[in-house]
Amino acid sequence: MDKTIEWVKEGEFGYSLMINQTVLPFEYKKEKIRTTEEMYNAIKTMIVRGAPAIGIAGAHGTALSAIELINEENFIEKLMQKADYLNSSRPTAVNLSWAIEAQKELALKNKNLPNKKISEILIENAIRLENEDIEINKKIGEYGASVVPRGAGILTHCNAGSLATVGYGTALGVIRSAYKKDNTIQVFADETRPRGQGAKLTTYELVKDNINTTLITDGMCSYFMRNKMINFVVTGADRIASNGDTANKIGTSTVAIAAKYYNIPFYIAAPKSTIDMNIKSGNDIVIELRDEDEVKIVNGKPICIDGVNIINPSFDITDNSLITGIITEYGIIKPSDLKNIFS
Ligand code: MRU
Repeated sequence: MDKTIEWVKEGEFGYSLMINQTVLPFEYKKEKIRTTEEMYNAIKTMIVRGAPAIGIAGAHGTALSAIELINEENFIEKLMQKADYLNSSRPTAVNLSWAIEAQKELALKNKNLPNKKISEILIENAIRLENEDIEINKKIGEYGASVVPRGAGILTHCNAGSLATVGYGTALGVIRSAYKKDNTIQVFADETRPRGQGAKLTTYELVKDNINTTLITDGMCSYFMRNKMINFVVTGADRIASNGDTANKIGTSTVAIAAKYYNIPFYIAAPKSTIDMNIKSGNDIVIELRDEDEVKIVNGKPICIDGVNIINPSFDITDNSLITGIITEYGIIKPSDLKNIFS
């Protein structure tokens, strides 16, 4: 698959190119993003989505901001403002602020250089982060595959695939690596209401890779667990607190609770950049509330009468006690041992 998001060098600097995820699986098109405002909108409207992918979008966006400001006075000050604006596009995935903070720090460190040089440094760093992401995911995939039982029935929620990263994926990286060793595994993809990332994106990726995939609705998982058709769960993460509590797409914690009941291993696959050691627990994670129309409107038509209340939290918190292990590029870590990979 193509990179989900990549910097294209053109002319003096270049632009960010991304797969438009709002039209998949029926249309495959790419968007050229050339300004801070376009990047803010691409993240907000989820043209680009998935924690690691929006991290890279943040890095590209900061480089675009620098290019925009090259001929301006007070370059650094204005760059910091634009970077903070980009960071406000979505609150839950820590990868966004992680990448933007890294770019801000780099710009500050080089603040005495000419604006053009600082812009070039930010572009090069964004490209480095972009390439690193695929390498990290392949490592996550290898570690994760080592705990997938032979012939497993694997449930995944939302899309933590190639599309949610630059390439290969985190949870789907584990599935891809497991499939290379054992092509008898089967995947169950949760539909993932309200936006349908499982139905639209995860099945698209896995069917293209010829991996045996069954689409189920969000409420079905315990049926398949009870009937022993699902015996392993792996999902991605948007932010992992220092105690291992994990924010991921709404519905993840329900899956984890069902998995615990049926004694099925539940793993989170995520890079170190998704771990936020600055917060104690999931209670400190800001959950994004999205537009009620995402729940109300299906295929362009309302599914309920006007006047009903709708609340649309985009993520939930899975308690650390429900998580068997966190599969990172450093190995598989118990939720209580996360500090070990920061020392
Ligand atoms: O709202 P989204 O589609 O950006 O949410 C994405 C998820 O919840 C993913 O599971 C998570 O970001 C991990 S992606 C490797």
